[in-house]
Amino acid sequence: MAALLVFVAWAGIVVVRSPFSLGFWLRQPRAAWLLSQGENPHPVMLRRPPAAPLSAMAELGRAVFFDARLSSSGRLSCASCHDPARAYGPPGALPAMFGGPRLTRQGVRAVPSLMYLERQPNFSVGPDNEANETVSLTQLAAAAKDVARATKTAADTAVSAANAVPQGGLFWDGRADTLQAQAEIPLLSRFEMDGGSIARVAAIMRAGPYAGQMRALFGAAIFDDPAMAVSEAMFALARYQIEDPRFHPYSSRFDAWLEGKARLNRAALRGYLLFNDPARADCGGCHLDQPTPDGRPPLFTDHQYEALGVPRNPALAANRDPAYFDLGICGPYRTDMAKQTQYCAMFLTPTLRNVATRQVFFHNGIYHSLQQVLDFYDFRDTDPGKIYPRGPDGKIEKFNDIPAGYRANADVTDPPFDRHPGEKPAMTRAEMADIIAFLGTLTDGYKAAR
Ligand code: HEC
Ligand code: HEC
Repeated sequence: MAALLVFVAWAGIVVVRSPFSLGFWLRQPRAAWLLSQGENPHPVMLRRPPAAPLSAMAELGRAVFFDARLSSSGRLSCASCHDPARAYGPPGALPAMFGGPRLTRQGVRAVPSLMYLERQPNFSVGPDNEANETVSLTQLAAAAKDVARATKTAADTAVSAANAVPQGGLFWDGRADTLQAQAEIPLLSRFEMDGGSIARVAAIMRAGPYAGQMRALFGAAIFDDPAMAVSEAMFALARYQIEDPRFHPYSSRFDAWLEGKARLNRAALRGYLLFNDPARADCGGCHLDQPTPDGRPPLFTDHQYEALGVPRNPALAANRDPAYFDLGICGPYRTDMAKQTQYCAMFLTPTLRNVATRQVFFHNGIYHSLQQVLDFYDFRDTDPGKIYPRGPDGKIEKFNDIPAGYRANADVTDPPFDRHPGEKPAMTRAEMADIIAFLGTLTDGYKAAR
């Protein structure tokens, strides 16, 4: 009982407003005691993707992934931007990488991690299916009746046209559906590998170390049809990312905690509860942190799109043109949804797994530390002067990376974005530190001590 009181004393305030209601824990002294020791009172079995030796197809894909010869500079492979040492995300802190023949052409967006894409659904616009994907914390704690799941917004629960939300797809704007379709884009993009043409890429493959593997897999005549050869190589790249467990190990301390095999320290545990608090930080409303009903580990994304309105990044060359705006789903890089202006400025919610290994955050790479990211969530609405620059007229230019006509698309309903200037921010500085501590438990490679 003493331990329970200690627990209440240090975490009580957080717990009261989280899905773990205080009343629930008071009726579960043993669970509360375990939690106070940093343990998961209700461990689950996680179902990870099966690990098997790479197929010959995936082995070929790995060779292509690291092949810098395919680029016009001869210096850029997939791995140059998607660094295996950094969760297949950017190797450094640049907001966007440089490509082209002399690596002088700056890209327009931050490099996303290639991890945990194996469950990414195709792009679609449809009903919010969040409830189908997850079990709630409370279910996890075997007390489903007690407290309702944190929903993103009340409107999401009603079935109506208004809650048709864009979801799924690859890239920040969802413009590619499959890893195969996706891979040709960086291979040929002038700003990236700048491969020139399919014919050139096929000729380099034909002259390279894995030409024999390609002939063995696709037939001796494969190089007679360059388009087919490159398309097959892109399929191999996709197989590599799907098959190699390094892209989806689910081996973080948090995964081990879910399974009852690791402890979270107090800061991380407080951060976890706050991450899930639907009235305050509400991170879990979009970055889902619950295993699916069939035991698949959480992906920390709901695969949906939101307009958060992060500040314009003056470090991007493209932004020197004041008329240029990266509007995500409605363009300019994706073209099929240009008329769906209700989706302008919406970007894909990324996974937060391994996020602590990144040095650049959000689609335009505006931030370089998790503290800056948390400040954005905390102060965007309560103290926007801390987040956005002032215009020539001295006014704070809130949402300055969204054209005025589309600023209404920005999310102002989901906490922590439901606040107003001068109101109390959703998180204190200490609470932000707790959330950052929790995010640190999402880095893969945790080895259980016992
Ligand atoms: C010059 C840096 C660069 C290179 C080289 C590069 N990429 Fe990317 N990659 C990016 C950027 C930037 C994005 C995000 C682009 C966007 O959203 O429009 C991206 C996005 C992706 C995505 C989508 C990820 C997601 O979360 O939606 C995949 C998959 C991918 N790249 C795979 C590859 C493969 C395979 C190669 C090699 C053929 C490659 N990339 C080469 C920079 C690069
Ligand atoms: C309403 C949905 C929503 C909520 C709530 C939310 N996020 Fe996000 N998060 C997003 C979206 C969408 C992006 C990408 C936005 C962009 O790049 O323009 C993002 C991006 C991020 C990133 C950058 C990741 C990367 O790879 O660049 C971090 C870190 C992050 N969120 C953490 C949090 C934390 C911590 C909270 C709670 C304080 C939170 N988010 C709450 C939707 C949400």
